[in-house]
Amino acid sequence: MSTAKIILGEKEYELPVVVGTENEVGIHTTKFRGQSGAITLDPGFGSTGSCESGITFINGEEGILRYRGYAIDELAEKASFPEVCYLLIYGELPNKAQLEKFSDDLTRHSLIHEDMKKFYEGFPANAHPMAILSSMVCSLSTYYPETGEPGEDDLNIIRLLAKAKTIAAFAYKKSIGQPFIYPKNDLSYSANFLNMMFAVPAEPYTVDPIFESTLNKLLILHADHEQNCSTSAVRLVGSSHANIFASMTSGICALWGPLHGGANQAVIEMLTMIHNDGGDYKKYVKKAQDKSDDFKLMGFGHRVYKNFDPRARILKAAAGEILEKMGVNDPLLDVARQLEEVALNDDYFVQRKLYPNVDFYSGIIYRAMGIPTEMFTVMFALGRLPGWISHWREMRNDPSMRIGRPRQIYTGPQGRTFVPVESR
Ligand code: SDX
Repeated sequence: MSTAKIILGEKEYELPVVVGTENEVGIHTTKFRGQSGAITLDPGFGSTGSCESGITFINGEEGILRYRGYAIDELAEKASFPEVCYLLIYGELPNKAQLEKFSDDLTRHSLIHEDMKKFYEGFPANAHPMAILSSMVCSLSTYYPETGEPGEDDLNIIRLLAKAKTIAAFAYKKSIGQPFIYPKNDLSYSANFLNMMFAVPAEPYTVDPIFESTLNKLLILHADHEQNCSTSAVRLVGSSHANIFASMTSGICALWGPLHGGANQAVIEMLTMIHNDGGDYKKYVKKAQDKSDDFKLMGFGHRVYKNFDPRARILKAAAGEILEKMGVNDPLLDVARQLEEVALNDDYFVQRKLYPNVDFYSGIIYRAMGIPTEMFTVMFALGRLPGWISHWREMRNDPSMRIGRPRQIYTGPQGRTFVPVESR
């Protein structure tokens, strides 16, 4: 199968076919408009690929997710988040020396310039931390302007991964009026973030190893997901050769939407609403099916997964484990489990293959760790940062990549002559 044919009017056009390493088939339409004058049209890009990529593979029908060929459940159980960052960005798991250097670099670049602390004074106390994260990440480009020097991208990748967690933790401290806690060089990536979030100057604080390992797992599960909305935004912005900090900022902003990364915050708000409404989850399953009601079951459904999101399965187990280990009984977990049970047996959801996605259980775990709801999407962004970086780097290192510039079908008024306001 090396070509596909499109018959348009009286003419037949033959287009090359691309087959990936997992036997996915793509019809290469780059030259189609030049040959036919016509374009393909696919709002939402449900059947359109933007690129060929060797980073992440998803099989939505079978619920498979692999980073550079490694299964997500194996990485979540056995790897550290820095290891997965290195794997996604550079294509291979680091050896011992490479991992030590990479982890050490991440530790030593965790501080932000002292002047950047002043930015926080300008934000209102109730500023959403995603607004702060996006502003601060873009502002990193003012402290690290592009020089074109060799190794600049690798150093900026370290700066982004290392400083994003500090920026996020400082945003939380700002929101509760507590002093910033600086990074500590003797802590792991996850422990350093938790320490910056929850330590206070007045008394000693020790990061709970359960929280540290759970956060490590959460960050790995969110690290990449091929051409999702925010990663596509990063690729498109990066294709104009905007600097890496500006490109990552576009990913943060795209992720914020409640249909995408903002869903984890929306799930907890939905579960809380159901709990406060007497726990009548069946009422909300029905509401989600009512076309006259714009209520959606947040945390359910996915453009690609038409089976269980493998990340949701891992997070469902982790939510139960951490609550049990902590001896916490979160009523929202009960509501989530009841909602899932009813929805998975309801024709509306079964027919549309709507299953819990990565956002359905993650918020339960963040809550158990004491992370406030408004920080949930920031947690998603911290996890997804290596994925955005890996796609930005793959795109920028691809000599065949051009600036992204989709076409359209115009449906507005045809040519007409200007009429002076007196005559309108
Ligand atoms: C993430 O792309 C990625 O990989 C994203 C992500 C990643 O790691 O980057 O996995 C992270 O964003 C997960 C998704 C988080 N969002 C939510 O949980 C929000 C709720 N979900 C929906 O908004 C929706 O399912 C989407 C946005 C996730 C997917 O939207 P699609 O692919 O455009 O599907 P659709 O809206 O066309 O839905 C198909 C049908 C429709 O009904 P009909 O018109 O066929 O009658 O299913 C219905 C929808 O109304 N539907 C839902 C529903 N999701 C879809 N109905 C009720 N509740 C829902 N949650």
